Amino acid sequence: MKKTDVLIVGGGLAGVITALKLVDCMQVTVVMQGDGNEGNSWKAQGGIAAALAKTDCADLHAADTLQAGYYKNDSSSVHVLTQEGKNRVSHWINQGLSFDRTQDGGFDFAREGAHSMRRILHAGGDQTGKRLMTFFTEKLNGRVEYLTGFAATELMIKDGQCAGARFINKDGLELAISANFTILATGGIGGLFSETSNDTSLIGSGLVIAWQAGADLKDLEYIQFHPTLITSQNRTVGLASEALRGEGAVLRSEDGRAIMDGIHPMKDLAPRDVVARTLDNYIQNGKRVFLDISSINQFNERFPQIAQLCSHAGINWQEGYLPVKPGAHFHMGGIKTDLWGRTTVKRLYAVGEVACTGVHGANRLASNSLLEAIVFGERTGEGILEGSDWGEIQCNKPRTWQTRLKSSHQLPKIAEIRQRVSRSLGVLRRESMLKEFILWTETYLDHTDQITDNQKAFTDIKKVQMLIAANLIAKAAVNNKDSCGFHTIETIEGEVRL
Ligand code: SIN
Repeated sequence: MKKTDVLIVGGGLAGVITALKLVDCMQVTVVMQGDGNEGNSWKAQGGIAAALAKTDCADLHAADTLQAGYYKNDSSSVHVLTQEGKNRVSHWINQGLSFDRTQDGGFDFAREGAHSMRRILHAGGDQTGKRLMTFFTEKLNGRVEYLTGFAATELMIKDGQCAGARFINKDGLELAISANFTILATGGIGGLFSETSNDTSLIGSGLVIAWQAGADLKDLEYIQFHPTLITSQNRTVGLASEALRGEGAVLRSEDGRAIMDGIHPMKDLAPRDVVARTLDNYIQNGKRVFLDISSINQFNERFPQIAQLCSHAGINWQEGYLPVKPGAHFHMGGIKTDLWGRTTVKRLYAVGEVACTGVHGANRLASNSLLEAIVFGERTGEGILEGSDWGEIQCNKPRTWQTRLKSSHQLPKIAEIRQRVSRSLGVLRRESMLKEFILWTETYLDHTDQITDNQKAFTDIKKVQMLIAANLIAKAAVNNKDSCGFHTIETIEGEVRL
């Protein structure tokens, strides 16, 4: 069995930042599913929120974060995010991380939904994720071992502590790595849905293996839907950043009406859940919605990635109207951690979107996710270096429902899982549909055994992980009767509790 000091599962921003903190003192191995240049962090468009403007301060940023999260946030996490966030981002700017500037040399702060002021730093226009990932991966400079093409199948638990993880690749090749510290940085769950801004490989595998090992999960029902995924011929082709609306783009119905007028005082920059529900209502009623970008000057200089996405999809952005609809974007819930990335299983850490410090509450404030990756990724690395320990926590026993099923038991197609997840766990939820969905997943999950055919194993394991992740989320949704932020549930047919 391969051995390492630190095993990081996932190579997005949170994983890379944590690796950077540790790599001078420890042997770090990063295992990821893709080839390294994909994943959500690379795609991030809007930017990174940090209270660096002269008129801004961490307290204002915290107030916006709490308000957007409907005060379901953990206030200490919000304090850490916003207070430390600006200092940690400033540190990296001093180390050469660059953001777009105005002609007078100041930062060109952008605005996004539910922010009370311009606060978003961006790079290369709408290529912030790509620029950040390039900057930080270059800093690692060949000092970590990367293993690509391997998906995590389970955590190894020894004497009640996490001792590493097992993986499998598409050819059925299995790999086991033992580690003193295991860090899950596996990202979100957008790939559970038919429409998503995420890389479709993100199906909640980190959540599932942590849960199977006995870790506590938190806030699973809160899933953010981005209002404006660009669509072409009924297919999602990418994201139209909220920063477009920050620069004056307007959501319009087919007859040209500004659809956010009269819905919320912040109109197109209302909190994301309000905008997503409004669009969802139009789409569910068979209507189309467009993002009118005609007022944005020099569109393809400020938003080159979006211009390119449109061109590749055959959408003529020069005409000024982008067809849009909501899609799964970010999971506010995840593996419960403290402010140092520690889960409730000893020696198991979680960072980035898969983790839940409670910082986002019921709706994440725009551009707080890259900041979260930096702040809590660094804190996790610092905690490990300082040798902080768990003390006397009582770990849960590992759960039933293993990932491997009898190969004879026919699993549903991935497209069917996505369709059912989208119907039951979408923008608007209905209790009866959630209950039906839970039962459907359990007809598969109650048949656990070993798969013998390794070629099939990779896909089957992914399907089972999707079923378990969606089952756990649906149960959290059924158990929370209070509609709030990105958890809107109808209890009686046709009646929405708001
Ligand atoms: C966007 O660019 O609209 C997405 C930013 C975010 O989700 O924080």
